[in-house]
Amino acid sequence: MLLIIIALLVNLFIETSASFSVVVPPDPVVAHVGSTVILPCRISPPENAEALEIRWYRQDQFSNPVLLYNHGKIQDTQDESYRNRTSLTPQSDQSGGLQDGDVSLRLEKLRVQDEDSFHCYVSGESSYSSEKVVLKITALGSTPVLVPQPLDDGRINISCRSSGWHPEPSITWTSDDGKVLHPGGSSHSRGEDRMFSIHSWMAVSQSDTQLVTCSLSIITGELKESRIDVQAIISSDLWKALFLIFLAFALLGLVGLILYKYREKLTGKKPADVAKEIAELRKHAVEITIDSENSHPDLKVSKDGKTMRDSPDYHHTGDGFPYELFAFGAQRFTSGRHYWEVELGRENTAPKHYWLIGVVKHGTFRLKDRSAFTPSSGYWFLCSDGPNGFHINTDPPVKLPLTPRPEQLGVLLDYDDGLLSFYNIKERKHLLTISSRFSGSVVPLFNPGVGDKSPLRILDCPKPAESAAEPSQHLMSNNSSEA
Ligand SMILES: *[C@@H]1O[C@H](CO)[C@@H](O)[C@H](O)[C@H]1NC(C)=O
Ligand SMILES: *[C@@H]1O[C@H](CO)[C@@H](O)[C@H](O)[C@H]1NC(C)=O
Repeated sequence: MLLIIIALLVNLFIETSASFSVVVPPDPVVAHVGSTVILPCRISPPENAEALEIRWYRQDQFSNPVLLYNHGKIQDTQDESYRNRTSLTPQSDQSGGLQDGDVSLRLEKLRVQDEDSFHCYVSGESSYSSEKVVLKITALGSTPVLVPQPLDDGRINISCRSSGWHPEPSITWTSDDGKVLHPGGSSHSRGEDRMFSIHSWMAVSQSDTQLVTCSLSIITGELKESRIDVQAIISSDLWKALFLIFLAFALLGLVGLILYKYREKLTGKKPADVAKEIAELRKHAVEITIDSENSHPDLKVSKDGKTMRDSPDYHHTGDGFPYELFAFGAQRFTSGRHYWEVELGRENTAPKHYWLIGVVKHGTFRLKDRSAFTPSSGYWFLCSDGPNGFHINTDPPVKLPLTPRPEQLGVLLDYDDGLLSFYNIKERKHLLTISSRFSGSVVPLFNPGVGDKSPLRILDCPKPAESAAEPSQHLMSNNSSEA
């Protein structure tokens, strides 16, 4: 009985005073990590909100609000994680703000953790209303890094990796004619920062397609993609087989030479391809020297800036590769193709077991955290870590079996196409290509590791001759002096 009377009284009271409701957009509001967003909310019919209580809070957090406005000002009562990031702001220039009943919330420096439902609660003396706005946070990850690895059956296994996504992106592989290809496998993981990392791979053969594109996209339609030329990789893998032909002919001497010339006529392109490939690489040869001022103090760098090794006084503490022993090239590249060769072993000594060779974005030197040496932070390299084998610094790193151990490594930086390729010069073999995207200026990166007998030495590349025939001559004479 008493309850009914109270209910009646309350009803009467509400009906006799002005009542309002709050209006919010029906669709989620989508915003990028790090950006500023306005969560719209207004009183309808419009009414001056200055004397009302305005409370923005997350689900089940009524008493720990994101923002509380009361008694004409913003109160201190606030969820700590929103301090200094919130304000009441008009949702547009046309809006009259609080006086016009616009109680929209401005939220700055968005984090993934801000993805939630936000309640817009407005309470007056006799009436209150509440509605929720859904906020979705997106983060566009890194440009995918593509790594091709040859398979025994002649196909190549291309892996595509990228990190820093939110929400989980969808992966699409396409061929050059836009046909969708089906990946061999895909997986994702989520870091402590709640961002998604993606790894997908597929095996392709030469007859499948020329170009393969891996693209990652999120709900907003934004995407990042990388492309790789399958034909170029497969054909450079022919190197080794073709070189065997050269070797045989070199042993046969003059007869070989004649045969070779004859063969060149017969088969037309192939032997010339090899010569072309080498000539092509060395055509882009640049002289690299070490910027000794910026290199690690425990490195010994020769006067000519070409040879480096760990100082005998240096003792590596901690385990794992001594990443701190970085040396940087004095040359910077912002476009074009550049090629250099590095020697990793001297005659009569075993090839080095510890080294790291690649490129780094200028200005990103000296990161403390070793897990930070990733393409998205401006590092691209191949590393030989002794008994732990070889890896490239994709995120996470990819381990590679490389046999025999390279004694002489060729590095081709193709800035415009975003490719970094490694060649085993002695074996005449393309090892791998990292496909990425470079920005700013990029400098050569070296690290001689610790404890090897041999130093790491930047070679002076033999200049290729002008005509197509001469480089192959050069190749043969190189080879016969070795035999
Ligand atoms: C908010 O800003 C004040 C004054 O600028 C500062 O003292 C305080 O540490 C900041 N609080 C947070 C959580 O950032
Ligand atoms: C291709 O490489 C990925 C690693 O990037 C590996 O997980 C997968 O098993 C490989 N596929 C084949 C067919 O070797």
